[in-house]
Amino acid sequence: MKNGRAKISVIGAGNVGASAAFRIAQLELADVALIDIVEEIPEGKALDLAQMCPITGSDVNLVGSTNYEDTADSDVVIITSGIPRKPGMSRDDLISTNTKVVKSVTEQVVSNSPDAILILVTNPLDAMVYVAHRVSGLSDNKVMGMAGVLDSARFRAFIAMELGVSVENINASVLGGHGDTMVPLLSNTTIAGVPIAQLVPADRLEAMVDRTRKGGAEIVALLKTGSAFYAPAVAAVEMAEAIIKDKKKVLPCCVYADGHYGIEDTFVGLPVRLGAEGVEEIIGVEISDEEMEALHVSAGKVKELCEVIDGMGIL
Ligand code: APR
Repeated sequence: MKNGRAKISVIGAGNVGASAAFRIAQLELADVALIDIVEEIPEGKALDLAQMCPITGSDVNLVGSTNYEDTADSDVVIITSGIPRKPGMSRDDLISTNTKVVKSVTEQVVSNSPDAILILVTNPLDAMVYVAHRVSGLSDNKVMGMAGVLDSARFRAFIAMELGVSVENINASVLGGHGDTMVPLLSNTTIAGVPIAQLVPADRLEAMVDRTRKGGAEIVALLKTGSAFYAPAVAAVEMAEAIIKDKKKVLPCCVYADGHYGIEDTFVGLPVRLGAEGVEEIIGVEISDEEMEALHVSAGKVKELCEVIDGMGIL
């Protein structure tokens, strides 16, 4: 029976994908199609999640499958398929394998859901958004990447730990590419409205910025067999929720910059308003000259990576 619920497809039923499906079901946000290239794993995880729903009180349908027909008519598609990092690897090391995966997945997703909005999670993130944008042919507002929400959450968590205050009191945003050049915005970071520079000495601030930049690698080094997944999954679902509920939520997301912040023709993390149309506006916030310079360096790194992809002849 056709119901009135929204539908989110999650591609990749691994750590990030399964955790995203868990979060969507827990929030009773939408029906879920959980897709993987490996047979039976998505079916098993979807069944497990469906059996969770009576306990969480969630009336959503969950389908696990290797068949993209099950993704038909999705409102939002979260793409997590690909390989994660191992210790010693940078996100950029994943580029060749994950470009091929994201290309093939995007083609199949779009042929079944031509109106869907795509949220990329696969790394190297900004470059994978470029791949999905090119392959899908979708408009700029409909293809975006999850990185800024996660990087900002990491920064906020470190600040809350440092100060011993609620995470809810910390307002912070991280822009730029999802890598070592990301740009935590100190100029706009506040604790219950108070500028952070009034509460944290400069050397401690610098240490937190550094830990944020290396936040993913810190977890990879501890896990040894993969990368972070709870926070990335919840971050992606926060973006999906903003779209499905047309919340007009301002979040840092990887989007196509076409002159915004003086950045031309690159995918990079910027503050955007997310609603039913996807990226409804890229918001211009005042940042310091130093932060602007760092943002341009970061965007330049993404551009270089996209040129490497172009040179591979995969797209
Ligand atoms: N189509 C569908 N699924 C695929 C494909 C494909 N072509 N190739 C790989 N997969 C699936 C794998 O079978 C696996 O189940 O993607 C899943 C990835 O899951 P994990 O290995 O657990 O990786 P995860 O931690 O979820 O990370 C996925 O997100 O954060 C990024 O860097 C991370 O790029 C990585 C991605």
